Amino acid sequence: MPSATPDHILVTGGAGFIGSHAALRLLETGHRVTIVDNLSRGHRAAISALERVAPDRLRFVEADLRATGPLTAALRGVDLVLHFAALAYVGESVDQPLRYYRTNIESTLSLLEAMDAAEVDCVVLSSTCATYGEPPDEAIPIRESCPQSPVNPYGRSKLACEVIIRDWRVARRRAGRAASAAFLRYFNVAGSDRSGRVGEVHRPETHLIPICLEVALGQRDRLSIFGDDWPTPDGTCIRDYVHVEDLVDAHLVVARDIYGRRSAPGELADERIFNIGTGQGVSVREVLDACRRVTGRAIPASVAPRRAGDPPRLIGSPERIKSLLGWEARHRSIEGMVEDAWRWRRAHPQGW
Ligand code: UFG
Repeated sequence: MPSATPDHILVTGGAGFIGSHAALRLLETGHRVTIVDNLSRGHRAAISALERVAPDRLRFVEADLRATGPLTAALRGVDLVLHFAALAYVGESVDQPLRYYRTNIESTLSLLEAMDAAEVDCVVLSSTCATYGEPPDEAIPIRESCPQSPVNPYGRSKLACEVIIRDWRVARRRAGRAASAAFLRYFNVAGSDRSGRVGEVHRPETHLIPICLEVALGQRDRLSIFGDDWPTPDGTCIRDYVHVEDLVDAHLVVARDIYGRRSAPGELADERIFNIGTGQGVSVREVLDACRRVTGRAIPASVAPRRAGDPPRLIGSPERIKSLLGWEARHRSIEGMVEDAWRWRRAHPQGW
C-alpha cells in the first residue's frame, strides 16, 4: 500500500528564491529533499544554508535539467517533483525569446522523460499569471477559467509547459499508468523566510521590491518606474503580491492532494490548476511607498518608459484553491512582505 503523503521530494531550482524557501519548509516538516539546480540563476550559498537545517535529509545535485542521465538517477526513489527551475524575467524574455523557449520547454520535456524512466508520476509545475496575458477589466480578479493569451515569451513558454505536462499525464493514464499534475499560477511572489535563513536576490535583479531595497541600501541611485501612464488609478502597473511563505504552504497542500489522487479513477477530467494570489492589487507607487516606510530611507524614483511585455493589471482570484483545498493567503499587507524581505536583505546586503 503506497503512503498517502509524499516523503521524498525533488525540487528543481531549489537554489533559487522560491525553490529555496520550499526546500526549507520541506526539510523543517521532516521530508527528504533532493535539489537539482545548475546554479545558473540559483545560489550555492542558499544550498549551504539549507544544509545547515537538515544535512542528513538534503541531497544537492548540481546539474542541468536537460542532462536526462543525472536527472533520472536523482529521481530514483522520489515521490513527487516540485518543478520551479526556469528562466523567469518578463523583460528578458522579450529580448531573448529563443533562450526562454529552449530553456523552459526543453527542461520540462527532459524532466518528464526522466520521471518516466524513474517511475515518478507526480509533478507540481510553477506556472504563472503571465499565461493569462492582459485580461479585460471584467475578467479581474482573474479566475483559472480565464482564457490564456500570454503577451510575452516567458508567459508563452510556461503555457507550453502546462500543455506538455497535460499531454504527458493523459498519455500515462491512457496507458494505465498513474500520473498526477498540478499547475500553480503564481502572481507576484514577495517577502522572505521570517527567521532569516533564506531570502530573495536575483542576478541580474529585475524585481520591483528587491530593486527598491537595493536603492535603500545605497547600491543603486534610484528606482525607474516603468510607466506612469497606464490605465490604472495612479498610472502605474498593479500586481497581486503573495508572500513566499504562503506560496510554499500552497505547494504543500497541493502536493498532498495530487499525491493522494495519482491513481484515482476519473482524475483525467479533473485538472488541478490553481491561482496563487491574494485577490488584492497593489500599484508600483504603493510598493515604493511601502518600501520607503519600512526602510525609513528616501528611495529616489523617476518615471521611465514602459517595459516591454508588462500587462497593466494582474490580480488573481484565489477562490478556487480556497474552496477545494482550504488554502488562502495569511499575509495580506504589502508592508509586512517588505519588512520580511528587508530583514534578510539588511543582514545580507550583497545578497547571497
Ligand atoms: N517595475 C518597475 N521598475 C523596476 C522593476 C519593476 O517599475 O525597476 C514594475 C514592473 O514594470 C511591473 C512591477 O514593477 O509593473 C512588477 O515587476 P516585477 O519585475 O517585480 O514583476 P513582474 O510582474 O514583471 O514579474 C513577476 C515575476 C514573473 C511572474 C510575474 C507575474 O518575475 O515570473 O511576476 O506577474 F510571471
